[in-house]
Amino acid sequence: MIQEIPVQLSGAVILITGAARGIGLALAQRFAIEQPAGLVLSDLAGAALSQAAASCGGVPIPADVSSESDIQFLIGQTVDRFGRLDLICSNAGILVSGGVEVPDPEWDRIWRVNLMSHVYIARAYLPELRRQGHGYLLLTVSAAGLLTAPGAAPYAVTKHAALSLAEWLAVTHAAEGLRVSALCPEFVRTQMVLDVEGPYRDWMVNAAIPPEAVAETVVNGLAAEDFLILPHPEVAEYFRRKAADYPRWLQGMRRLLDKVRT
Ligand SMILES: NC(=O)c1ccc[n+]([C@@H]2O[C@H](COP(=O)([O-])OP(=O)(O)OC[C@H]3O[C@@H](n4cnc5c(N)ncnc54)[C@H](O)[C@@H]3O)[C@@H](O)[C@H]2O)c1
Repeated sequence: MIQEIPVQLSGAVILITGAARGIGLALAQRFAIEQPAGLVLSDLAGAALSQAAASCGGVPIPADVSSESDIQFLIGQTVDRFGRLDLICSNAGILVSGGVEVPDPEWDRIWRVNLMSHVYIARAYLPELRRQGHGYLLLTVSAAGLLTAPGAAPYAVTKHAALSLAEWLAVTHAAEGLRVSALCPEFVRTQMVLDVEGPYRDWMVNAAIPPEAVAETVVNGLAAEDFLILPHPEVAEYFRRKAADYPRWLQGMRRLLDKVRT
């Protein structure tokens, strides 16, 4: 039975991947203010995860999101502990820079982390969703999934795939009570951006907003059940222009890249 329960972070059981730092940690710390019934922070094993969980009263459960068995364990542990799972923020992601010359093992690695992680999470969550009658999936995608990613073909391609999956899940499983949002920020001041090397780094770092601002937009976006959650509202206009006139958009992107490179 479908239950039209509004997304109340207060009293919800929430799981966040990639939560040891950056956007995932900012989400966890912001959600903690709403007093959820359960807050699980997951990331690769390490001290950073325990520290992150301690900073917001969450439960740390290590998992590699590119491993389906880790995801099954993570979701199983969360449900065993709290009895249900209201919101999963499938947030972990990596950046691989370069073009088509990037070696296959790197394409495979980013494909598994940036796309298959969401597939594994949805696959493990759907039986739970049917049992509960409701559920919410927030996929951290990127503006790169709507537009493109200068200097990073593997990132742009995998984020387009993640957005496509979010759309598909939102269409296909709505009748079972699944709600889906795709978080699509432009640059955010996290280690991912600070670690970038090469001609685009300064442009990205200078344009980046703090992860706490992203978390605030997410809280509002979840309350409104927006499919696209856009911490940089101008991305909606860029997306409209792309759809309205592809050749003109491509020309504009070429000009932008020339400008940034020089
Ligand atoms: N920073 C940006 O400008 C930006 C913009 C748009 C979208 N995003 C997306 O936001 C999400 C979070 O990125 P961030 O900026 O906070 O980066 P970050 O590098 O600071 O944090 C990413 C976290 O994910 C974890 N992680 C990486 N691989 C993992 C794996 N296989 N299993 C489990 N955890 C793993 C890392 O350990 C890290 O804690 C990513 O999906 C990223 O693509 C970031």
